[in-house]
Amino acid sequence: MNDFEYYNPVKVFFGSDSIEKLGGLAAQYGKRAVVVSYTDISFYGDLFDRIHGALKEAGLAYTDCLVVRANPTIAQAKQGVALCKDFGADLLIGVGGGSAMDCTKVIAAGVRYPHDDIRKMILFSHSDNTQIPPKAALPMILIPTLPATGSEMNCTAVITDEETVAKSYVWAPDCLYAKAALVDPALSRTLPPYQTACAALDTVAHVAEGYFNGGAGLNLDLQDRLQEGLIRAVLENLPKVLAQPDDLQARGLMQWASALALNGWVLSGTYTWAPMHQMGHVLSARYNATHGASLSVMMVAWMKYFAGRSDNARYEQLARRQFGKPLAEAAEAFEALIESVGVQTRLSQFGAAEGEIDMLAEDVRNVSFNADGVLASVPPVTLDEVKAIYRLAL
Ligand SMILES: [Fe+2]
Repeated sequence: MNDFEYYNPVKVFFGSDSIEKLGGLAAQYGKRAVVVSYTDISFYGDLFDRIHGALKEAGLAYTDCLVVRANPTIAQAKQGVALCKDFGADLLIGVGGGSAMDCTKVIAAGVRYPHDDIRKMILFSHSDNTQIPPKAALPMILIPTLPATGSEMNCTAVITDEETVAKSYVWAPDCLYAKAALVDPALSRTLPPYQTACAALDTVAHVAEGYFNGGAGLNLDLQDRLQEGLIRAVLENLPKVLAQPDDLQARGLMQWASALALNGWVLSGTYTWAPMHQMGHVLSARYNATHGASLSVMMVAWMKYFAGRSDNARYEQLARRQFGKPLAEAAEAFEALIESVGVQTRLSQFGAAEGEIDMLAEDVRNVSFNADGVLASVPPVTLDEVKAIYRLAL
């Protein structure tokens, strides 16, 4: 295994009554709460009434900050920071999927950020040494409603700069962990089939990134089995939850799997590169591709690409253990599986064309290439190889 530090202070309440913990928890951390979520919360039924009721009953003042859209932007986070400062917020409640929770994190850090522009906290380039990570943030309680990013249990926030169309992130273990996560499987019960499938495939991608980047010379038997089990459980339960959307056992499995994928339990000891995500983020930034769909396209393309190389032992291993097939055939089987749950597997389905591949590759280089001029992965990937992978995805 690689050396690693492990730290995760998030208190998790999992279950159908977890929202009932909100009032008592909120009162521990603040007196003036801002509830951050999407511009449209009509699909949440009575959830916000329950949240408001819990805060009111616990004696907190509260207001909503409904500024977030999918693939949230720095401008949305700035709106949130301004609202929080006006309100005198001392606690944030983030409600939603990764976009809402990540925007909540940037707002929480933004309120306490001493520098003139919160843009400076974002790591826009892996060779950038001008980033000033946040050191403090308002306390947060997160309520995930979509099982994908595991944001409720990690210290990363993904955000897009609307001016440069660069989708990047801030990672801050000092301050971006939530105090608590209230995880109710029923909150994802009304998630549409496409979002359900994209979320599950995002979870698979988080684990597959670590698996493919395992690297030579490491004993990863433990991580491999944990990761294989997580991927298998998600892929086996995805058809079940699509067939029976109110299966709360399967919904709960999806939600907890997404948290485990990125809370450090299954990836510690592996390399933490995420090259498929770096290439997928460009698709979200350029075409507003749903995150999980962008990852579906990239996973299939990466598997096909490495099927043509000899240094593909990690890919072959997962292919044979998950699909019982050699890599090239496993890539086809995975593509068919993704199509069967209604998610895109091709760049062209986002509207991308051959002539745009150079632009996409440049976007990846600008944000994600390291100082050595390659995309960090095992093995590292060059600009020409990024183009070749995108081409396979067309
Ligand atoms: Fe992801």
